[in-house]
Amino acid sequence: MNVQVQTPDPAAGPAVGQAADQVADHLTGRAAGGSAGQPQLFLRSVGKTFANRTVALEAVDMVINRGDFASLLGPSGCGKSTALRLIAGLISPTAGVIDWRGAPLGKSDIGFVFQEPTLMPWASVFDNVWLPLRLRGDSRAAAAPKVRAMLEQVGLAGFENAVPRELSGGMKMRVSIARALVTRPRLLLMDEPFAALDEITRFRLNDDLLALWQAERFTAIFVTHSVFESVFLSTRIIVMAARPGRVFEEMAVEVPYPRSEAFRTSPEYAALCRQASAVLERAMLARPAEQATEARHGGG
Ligand SMILES: Nc1ncnc2c1ncn2[C@@H]1O[C@H](COP(=O)(O)OP(=O)(O)OP(=O)(O)O)[C@@H](O)[C@H]1O
Ligand SMILES: [Mg+2]
Repeated sequence: MNVQVQTPDPAAGPAVGQAADQVADHLTGRAAGGSAGQPQLFLRSVGKTFANRTVALEAVDMVINRGDFASLLGPSGCGKSTALRLIAGLISPTAGVIDWRGAPLGKSDIGFVFQEPTLMPWASVFDNVWLPLRLRGDSRAAAAPKVRAMLEQVGLAGFENAVPRELSGGMKMRVSIARALVTRPRLLLMDEPFAALDEITRFRLNDDLLALWQAERFTAIFVTHSVFESVFLSTRIIVMAARPGRVFEEMAVEVPYPRSEAFRTSPEYAALCRQASAVLERAMLARPAEQATEARHGGG
């Protein structure tokens, strides 16, 4: 089984929540690259305190590498959505910096899939997916091949004239994913996109999402409450703790892709889920002071 929790092995890449000098090592290329891509963005001591004084995030250090499928896993209120919104540039940090390797990604380089599909109810499937292209100036005719190809990729060929109320929950989520991917973003942010779906639909969408990720090679940051989903999908699971929201520990899931139904029912998958559950449980019990100790000693 290939799993590392707070690994000291530099070949596995930087573990978030570890000492800042390890992040710096990675920055300067002193740490070995491992199988992950080059760093794409860093959160450095990022904090977010809202106007009502809620400390949603405190001292978050995080490295996202190109091509990662990184899941943010943690209890309600630990700042997962806040972290995604900060990365998307929808809100600004009140402490620290979000540092892009190279130029920051522009709007059309970042796709965002919300928990609710947030479709325009009056508009057809085609028009919903066309929207981001339209906003950047593509006419219907110019956008049509891209919209149709995208709808085919998410399994919705033939539904372009349907309106959202004619679709199932899973189909609406597929439209939402197509809308986020139609601009071919380099980074796809997803905030519990499948939480409201039944298990079978969720499995199918997980499979299809991984197929898209493998085909398109975007970087994915995926927020979930589900240990099972995070293990199935991710190259890395970033476990967060609450009050204040922070990175608690990271776990690498070094299982090759494609990950099939055989993986989902394997003893290896069950063992990885147990391991991720144990980390999550510790994160939920941890007090802020323990996290500081954890970071100093490299955890484990
Ligand atoms: N706009 C806001 N103004 C004030 N407080 C906020 C705001 N947005 C979020 N918070 C608070 O910040 C904390 C983190 O919220 P966030 O939505 O990021 O958590 P989350 O991990 O996504 O939770 P969930 O799993 O329930 O979606 C919570 O205490 C929340 O109440
Ligand atoms: Mg949330």
